Amino acid sequence: MERRRLLGKSYDVKDPKLAEAGGLRIEYAGQQMPVLKGLKERFAKEKPLSGIRMGACLHVTTETANLMDVLKAGGAEVAVCASNPLSTQDDVAAWLATELGIPTFAVRGENNEVYYEHIEAVIGMGPQITMYDGCDLVFAIHDKHADMLSTMLGGSEETTTGVIRLRAMEKKGALKYPVVAVNDANTKHLFDNRYGTGQSTVDGIMRATNLLLAGRRFVVCGYGWCGRGVAMRARGMGSIVAICEVDPLRALEAAMDGHLVMTMMEAARWGEVFVTLTGDRSILRKEHFEVMKDGAVLCNSGHFDVEIDIPVLREMAQSERRVRPMVDEFLLPDGRRLYLLSEGRLVNLAAAEGHPASVMDMSFANQALCAAYLVKNGRALEKRVHQVPRDIDEEVARLKLAAMDIEIDTLTPEQQQYLADYQGGT
Ligand SMILES: NC(=O)c1ccc[n+]([C@@H]2O[C@H](COP(=O)([O-])OP(=O)(O)OC[C@H]3O[C@@H](n4cnc5c(N)ncnc54)[C@H](O)[C@@H]3O)[C@@H](O)[C@H]2O)c1
Repeated sequence: MERRRLLGKSYDVKDPKLAEAGGLRIEYAGQQMPVLKGLKERFAKEKPLSGIRMGACLHVTTETANLMDVLKAGGAEVAVCASNPLSTQDDVAAWLATELGIPTFAVRGENNEVYYEHIEAVIGMGPQITMYDGCDLVFAIHDKHADMLSTMLGGSEETTTGVIRLRAMEKKGALKYPVVAVNDANTKHLFDNRYGTGQSTVDGIMRATNLLLAGRRFVVCGYGWCGRGVAMRARGMGSIVAICEVDPLRALEAAMDGHLVMTMMEAARWGEVFVTLTGDRSILRKEHFEVMKDGAVLCNSGHFDVEIDIPVLREMAQSERRVRPMVDEFLLPDGRRLYLLSEGRLVNLAAAEGHPASVMDMSFANQALCAAYLVKNGRALEKRVHQVPRDIDEEVARLKLAAMDIEIDTLTPEQQQYLADYQGGT
């Protein structure tokens, strides 16, 4: 029935009248995206995506709108849907649909049925290149639209969880078109996952709760690129940070970075704020809820809403109520109250605005350049997960440094010679 609701519609957004407000915010974000701005000028001249149909399943934010603008300038016909039901900025979706004329299917708070219906609407536009954050779009094409696979040039994946899933598909021989792992570019995960997630996750927690973070016992579950960033920023706000890990190297790194390292069980008794960023499931679960302090705040910044065992928390609770936007209170039979932020979905996108534009400038420059790369090379690439070509990664770094007015040195011929030599010694 929902599918029929969208038939013949070129967009599904909350309210087209929000476009003006969205346009102002998109322009404002664009000022922090000089690399993308430069690419837009280049793409407008060279038209590297001319006539290519692209389907994007991304967080529909001001930064994504700037990327869509670049792809369109490059000659692509783009359609976009949300990669998370709670991350859409409705004013941005309205601007994309009505001002940029891009088929846009995203409504903040959409239920799961509508979420998948929106993915189907983008697939219905017949994309030859897909761009996604979390792999749901690529999976839907493989699962339900196998007839499209032969015409696909390729795809690009934005986040760690999506890349993990694509690698799992590749291993089973189930991946039927080439995909570039944008997440794995150095100019993506070293900055976006670390500094972007770091700042915006702390921002989301603060906006949702208005808690003082100074002196707060702050538990970060997962010390990957995102976890490192959140831990670093929480410490900067004066919190006492504890890390829970399963990887001994990362746990050791956390300890030497000066954080407390402990098991999840120990942290559950100790902590006051908990953030999961593992890309794994059931990190916070029954035995942890049973011992947490009254007033503990739980949130997730990993891709899917499975890191906190919400169904179990709901079963354990005597009652549940929304006490502030994005804050649900679960009252346990012994009188303790646990606070879950943004329904366990990405707290930085649901309770704040996601990554600042300046860092998405690099992630999305990678996306735009990888799209052009796929148009040129997609047909010749093997059907597996590919790294972002090194020259694209280095170009993005160079462009960003130039935009930041930072000059660096180059090796002298003598230094080049020295580094190539293996005979010289003391
Ligand atoms: N919120 C955002 O905007 C945003 C941005 C980028 C990535 N992400 C998502 O955040 C998640 C983490 O990404 P990343 O790049 O840091 O990944 P990563 O692979 O670098 O780090 C994940 C870490 O979690 C640890 N881990 C796994 N299972 C665990 C468990 N049971 N207990 C404790 N630790 C465990 C791993 O050992 C690893 O060190 C992914 O789901 C990714 O897609 C979110």
